[in-house]
Amino acid sequence: MLNKAIAREIQVSIQYMWQHVEWIGVKGFAVQDEFKSIGIAEMKHAEAIAERLFYLGETPTTKPDPINVGKTLREMLVQDIKDELNAIKMYKDIVEMARKEKDETTMFLFLNILKDEEDHHDTFTTLLEQV
Ligand SMILES: [Fe+2]
Ligand SMILES: [Fe+2]
Repeated sequence: MLNKAIAREIQVSIQYMWQHVEWIGVKGFAVQDEFKSIGIAEMKHAEAIAERLFYLGETPTTKPDPINVGKTLREMLVQDIKDELNAIKMYKDIVEMARKEKDETTMFLFLNILKDEEDHHDTFTTLLEQV
């Protein structure tokens, strides 16, 4: 499950960074910095989860899930909202599983990441309303 989480963190970190690069139009100008800072946040998530997984004795994956940059700003944001919703669902499952296994460190790690993903979801949803 942690490797699945890493695969999607790498995916979105590249996806958001390339959306930052490929933005077009006036509205794109307004959101390009947001794509960049969230992309960097996702890379930090990938690192933190990989550190944890490596500590637990496994090798972290280097392969991202399929990346979907999109062409228009609307396409980008619709895709990103989907990805954040999937993350929220997956990380709630991981928190639940870690709780059952009494692995508090993993549980707290994912509770913290979960808060970030909810922030990202909120940001992308708000931006989509203006597009
Ligand atoms: Fe993340
Ligand atoms: Fe996120």
